[in-house]
Amino acid sequence: MPDHEMPTHHGTDAESPGNEPNETIRLLYERGSCRVFRDQKVPPDILETLLGAGLHAATGGNLQPYSIIRIEDEEHRRELAELGEQAFIGDAPVSLLFCIDYHRLERWARLSDAPFTATRAFRHFWIAFQDTIICAENICTAADALGLGSVYIGTVLEFFPRLREMFRLPDGVFPVVLLCLGYPGTGIPVKRKLGIEAVVHREEYREMADQDLVQAFDRKYPGVKVEPTPERRELIATVCRKAHDEAYAQRCLARIEADGFINPAQRYFGLHYRADEMPERNDEFVRLTEEFGFQWFR
Ligand SMILES: Cc1cc2nc3c(=O)[nH]c(=O)nc-3n(C[C@H](O)[C@H](O)[C@H](O)COP(=O)(O)O)c2cc1C
Repeated sequence: MPDHEMPTHHGTDAESPGNEPNETIRLLYERGSCRVFRDQKVPPDILETLLGAGLHAATGGNLQPYSIIRIEDEEHRRELAELGEQAFIGDAPVSLLFCIDYHRLERWARLSDAPFTATRAFRHFWIAFQDTIICAENICTAADALGLGSVYIGTVLEFFPRLREMFRLPDGVFPVVLLCLGYPGTGIPVKRKLGIEAVVHREEYREMADQDLVQAFDRKYPGVKVEPTPERRELIATVCRKAHDEAYAQRCLARIEADGFINPAQRYFGLHYRADEMPERNDEFVRLTEEFGFQWFR
């Protein structure tokens, strides 16, 4: 099984429950990421309706510490597709880059002779990050309601400095996520999710029994098995050694041997979101935030 034929980390298609009490609930239950876009522009009035829906979202203290870069220019879209290594990004007629923006608030504070330290305060970062995503998600829901599709692109994280240049982001503006928008070129698959029984805890956190936990994930990823090629085994073993130790690597290999396949958790953390590389890059990320004018993580 070559890499491009591996079961995708985007999950497994779900059945629609089909008994939603109204259109809003149906939209929320049937939402899914859209990665195939028709060659059709989004009319400006529609786009403005979507953007307005985002700006009406809840935001800590009603501060709205974010900016959105609206990207429709062909060259920008092509470059984003190349940098993000995902061709469909270039097919989306509009992309929105959501950024935490303390530049605007700092200017407002200065112009109002008010004190300001938000670019140095972890608490402000924590809230602004939530505000930014909640705004983006309102736009996704509004887009679904008007027959558009959308997909978040988190891999922009790999090229923040280039985004800063491309979109002339001043100090105090930090990219969070890109959202591609457009009219879907195909039906949008609805993915399986963990159920309420796995995610919701009544009144206090309840530890699931091992078997129930495994079953909950098996229901989410039914029959997802990745072929254990020698290269993949070797890579997973290397990741285990670096992230844990030799004993853990042997345990992982023995499990693959016994099962005859690489399971979804091994695939996620051993091959895709690599458990060895992810924490190694923390310092680099903190440095990057400092280059963008923040001292959130000091
Ligand atoms: C923060 C974030 C980053 C994401 N980054 C990407 C990405 O770079 N490329 C992509 O194709 N999908 C991306 N997605 C979409 C997820 O893969 C998708 O939401 C997930 O697989 C579940 O599928 P669904 O949205 O269809 O329910 C991202 C989603 C979120 C919330």
